[in-house]
Amino acid sequence: MENSELHRRFDTLLVHEGAHAPTDDVRPTVTPIYATSTFIHSSAAALDRAFDENGLVYGRYGNPTVDSFEKIVAAAEGGIGAVAFASGMAALHTAFLAAGTPRGATQPEASTIIAGQDMYGSTRTLLNQFFAAQGWSVSYCDMTDLECFAEQLRARPAIVFLEPISNPLLKITDLPRIVELARDAGARVVVDNTFATPLLLRPIEHGVDLVVHSATKYLGGHGDVVGGVVAARTHLMHNTLRSYGKLLGATLGPYEAWLLARGLKTLSLRVRRQCTSAYEVAHWLRAQPQVSKVYYPGLADHPQHELAQQLFGGLFGGIVAFDLRVATQEVAFTFMDALKLVLPGSTLGDIYSLVSYSARSSHRDVPVEERRAQGIGDGLVRLSVGIEDVADILDDLKQALAVVQ
Ligand SMILES: Cc1ncc(COP(=O)(O)O)c(C=O)c1O
Repeated sequence: MENSELHRRFDTLLVHEGAHAPTDDVRPTVTPIYATSTFIHSSAAALDRAFDENGLVYGRYGNPTVDSFEKIVAAAEGGIGAVAFASGMAALHTAFLAAGTPRGATQPEASTIIAGQDMYGSTRTLLNQFFAAQGWSVSYCDMTDLECFAEQLRARPAIVFLEPISNPLLKITDLPRIVELARDAGARVVVDNTFATPLLLRPIEHGVDLVVHSATKYLGGHGDVVGGVVAARTHLMHNTLRSYGKLLGATLGPYEAWLLARGLKTLSLRVRRQCTSAYEVAHWLRAQPQVSKVYYPGLADHPQHELAQQLFGGLFGGIVAFDLRVATQEVAFTFMDALKLVLPGSTLGDIYSLVSYSARSSHRDVPVEERRAQGIGDGLVRLSVGIEDVADILDDLKQALAVVQ
């Protein structure tokens, strides 16, 4: 009952005792989980100011645990700020809306997007089934073909979207050149940096406007949380994202933010190890008779190997994709079922090695002919290399490939 002049009864004590503990004079080493939907201010005027200053008035507007995650991402990506979302898809949705906002007299063709052909299947579905249904015009282009891209820019799109390391074929885009062309045409550039992580690539340094992550993947890294985040290059984009985030409501919760902030502390250690192991795995896979093709930018014969070397400073990512020589779903499933260490899972970027069959997971909703035309065949397997001892990963792949001999 301290600080209270009123007598508090049992039910009231249960609600208020021990809550609102002062922490000003001591600091925890880690930003705690602020499991609160609202914030108490010292006066009505202070609350009123908080609406404009930091949003610490209501959970959908702001939360210190979520703020701390956003700050790490903004710093890692070199952005002005970042806004966290409940999932990577919510982050993408809001990023497209923010990037599509009008820009006055020099407004390019509103609601027109040019997107990289090879991308996460649900992003493609979001563009085709959601945005196109809202009247947006969506067209695709192989972003490694700069002539095709320059041609498409004649449509004066509002947005150019791409994955710098594409999913699942691991094509590498000449991001600096793409940004230059897109900006000359007046488009905003949105990039999904989930595969590259800011360790390999910081797209904002190349002029990209919005950098999206499925934080579920490498940022979190431990397979225990779903989340998304967008880092912004300009105050305008950051403010727009924040206000759309509040309105649409797909905000990240403090528990998830805490896990993601924790995961980010070891991003560099994890991803460096994953890149080194993936490099070894890719070279090993290439020598296996059951494998007809390996997709990995670290291989000298990868079409954009040199570009990857320039852009990513000697790292090539933790994902390896490969075609099984007998390219059927049945053989791919037999191989996956035979794995004993590598886990079958429709995610990537975790400390655990994970395998997935793109045709029936990330690209499940993409029509078969469209998928095959993109080069995602029936024998394509995607491997996300974890932080286990690489010798154990290779042993497991070896015994599982022997089953599909
Ligand atoms: C490259 C990429 N972007 C976006 C997403 C969507 O993220 P989430 O599943 O967190 O909504 C995924 C999910 O697999 C992804 O791989």
